[in-house]
Amino acid sequence: MEDLYADQTREVPFHGWHHVSFVAHNARKFAEELGADTATAEIAGLVHDVNYLVAARGGASVGTPLRARALRDIGLDADSVKIIDEIVITAETHSRGQDLSPEAMALSDADTLFKALPITPVILAPLYMRETGRSLRDLAEKIVSEQVPLRDDGIYFYSESARKKYEGWGDVNLRLWSCILDSLDDTLVVDLVSQVEKYTSIPAGSQSEPGGCWQ
Ligand SMILES: [Fe+2]
Repeated sequence: MEDLYADQTREVPFHGWHHVSFVAHNARKFAEELGADTATAEIAGLVHDVNYLVAARGGASVGTPLRARALRDIGLDADSVKIIDEIVITAETHSRGQDLSPEAMALSDADTLFKALPITPVILAPLYMRETGRSLRDLAEKIVSEQVPLRDDGIYFYSESARKKYEGWGDVNLRLWSCILDSLDDTLVVDLVSQVEKYTSIPAGSQSEPGGCWQ
């Protein structure tokens, strides 16, 4: 599977091998706790973001053909390929809910943990913007609109250990991104971002209606 990333034709500085190997490793750990099939959760982690090798945007289903090919190449039968694709698609952040298979929960927790790491907004978010062509506002809106409702519904994480160890990081992360979004309605910040854009290659994005900083 690592070869798939080594031979990539698109540059994926955020969703590269470092990301999928982190997610696969942790999906296996969360799977043990959640009573999921550990091998299935780990394999789902390895192929969950192959869509980014195909296109910058469009979601997990864009990667279904490449995912199927990679899974067949490691010897999985058609039923297993279908099951793993379903795990990946149901675990997507923008649409996941309460009713997930244990394997999808394990995958989701591992992927969410990567997003919630305190280093992610500092080191990895600029790489996400470079990879996907999203502006700072696009990314902040995406994070806040997708992840705050999950946190409020009590399904930011599914496993007890992730909740216990990492929910605090998640809270700080969401608060930070809510404040970033709020700050992009302040012309002082927008002017500053546009002045340093030549050094960072990070566009602020278009302005929208002012909103309050999420607490
Ligand atoms: Fe991911």
